Amino acid sequence: MVEAVLDWGGRIDALVNLVGGYTGGPPLHQIEDATWNRMLELNLTSAFVLSRAVLPHLLERRSGRIIHTASRGAVEPFAGGAAYIVAKAGVVVLTRSIAAEVAGTGVTANVLLPGTIDTAANRAGAPGADYSKWVRPAALAETILFLISDAAREINGAAIPVYGS
Ligand SMILES: NC(=O)c1ccc[n+]([C@@H]2O[C@H](COP(=O)([O-])OP(=O)(O)OC[C@H]3O[C@@H](n4cnc5c(N)ncnc54)[C@H](OP(=O)(O)O)[C@@H]3O)[C@@H](O)[C@H]2O)c1
Repeated sequence: MVEAVLDWGGRIDALVNLVGGYTGGPPLHQIEDATWNRMLELNLTSAFVLSRAVLPHLLERRSGRIIHTASRGAVEPFAGGAAYIVAKAGVVVLTRSIAAEVAGTGVTANVLLPGTIDTAANRAGAPGADYSKWVRPAALAETILFLISDAAREINGAAIPVYGS
């Protein structure tokens, strides 16, 4: 993917990684291997692989932003989501590890911690909930736009809560 984008546009300014997914369910002692491995692969390994692929280009240019997406649950664990929570906590630590490695290079790495996002899938899963308290996708987009703007050039290693109201 990185090679295809470079072939197409010649450079990469920012990696905005929204890949992820949630499988909740049983308490930790009942989680099956397949669920554990899938949550780690989908949420954490994807962030690692994407970062590894794009960093050489950003470091060579001495410019660029990495923005990963974790979850509020990564810093405020809830019952019944341990595999996802551990994977997203890993995304936070991965981002901070990258931030330490790129400090002073002109590259930055930060991570979003969304609360429940007002998506069609979430509405279908929680009919009757108060959607006005959920995170508006536009609010997340505006946060991302700020992080990739020049104004955020000195923000590195931040885990940013976007929790809604
Ligand atoms: N929804 C929430 O309430 C919530 C809360 C906290 C954090 N988050 C996090 O915020 C991010 C966006 O959430 P969302 O609800 O908008 O997610 P989403 O639409 O369900 O999926 C986000 C992206 O992940 C990609 N993806 C899923 N499985 C993949 C796979 N096996 N290989 C490659 N790509 C895959 C999807 O690609 P395709 O479009 O090609 O399928 C999609 O572009 C995710 O990281 C999620 O964990 C969400």
